[in-house]
Amino acid sequence: MNPPSAPADVPRLAVLVSGNGSNLQAILDACAEGRLAAHVAVVIANNPDAYALTRAAEAGVPTEVRPHQGVDRAEYDKELAYTAATYGADLVVLAGWNRILTTFFVGHHATINLHPAKPGGFRGLGAIEADFDAWQRGDLTEGGVMVHYVPDEGVDDGPVIAWEGVPFHDGDTLDDYALRVHGVEHRLLVDAIATVLARADTLGGHR
Ligand code: GAR
Repeated sequence: MNPPSAPADVPRLAVLVSGNGSNLQAILDACAEGRLAAHVAVVIANNPDAYALTRAAEAGVPTEVRPHQGVDRAEYDKELAYTAATYGADLVVLAGWNRILTTFFVGHHATINLHPAKPGGFRGLGAIEADFDAWQRGDLTEGGVMVHYVPDEGVDDGPVIAWEGVPFHDGDTLDDYALRVHGVEHRLLVDAIATVLARADTLGGHR
C-alpha cells in the first residue's frame, strides 16, 4: 500500500484524524494507485479509538496517538507541530479532525481542512445533519463539500481550495445524503491536495 519510505522528492503528508478515516483511506488509496503524487508519512489521532488508526496500520503508515484531554491547548499544539515536523510533513491534512488548531500550529505547518458544507455554510461538527435539516425545512436547496486552507483559528473557515455542491434528492434519508457527501469528499480532497502540492509557494518554508 503506502511504502514506509518514499523518494525524497515526493511530498510528505501528515493526516490528522479523529474518527472513521474514510477520507484518510481515499488519500492512502490515491497514493498507492499513483493518482496522487504524495506519501502519507504519519497519521496522528487525538482519539485512541479512531478507526482511522486501523486503516493507517493496515497501510503500513506510522501512527501517533495524542489524546488531548487534560493537556494545555498551547502545549498540545506545540507537541503536535513537533510531531508532524519529525515526520518531515510538507502539508498537514485535517481529514475529520475535531479540534481547532492554534495559530502556532498553522504558523508552522501549511494546513488544509475538509468540511462537509459549502463555503459560507454551516460550520463546526454536524454540518451534514444541519444541512439535511435545513433542506427538510425548505431553507436549503443544495448542500456541499469544501477544502480550504487553515490560516488561523477560524472554525471551518479559510481560503477555499475546492468546493462542490451536493444535491438533495426527493425521498432522501440522512444516510442517503451523507453517503453522497462522503463520495464527493473522497474525490474532492484528493484533488485539493494535488492542487495545493502543485502550488509550492503555498507550502511556506516547509518544502
Ligand atoms: C467528514 O465528513 C469531514 O468532512 C468531517 O468529518 C468527516 C470525517 O469522516 N469534518 C468536519 O466536519 C470538520 N468540521 P471520515 O473520518 O470518514 O473521513
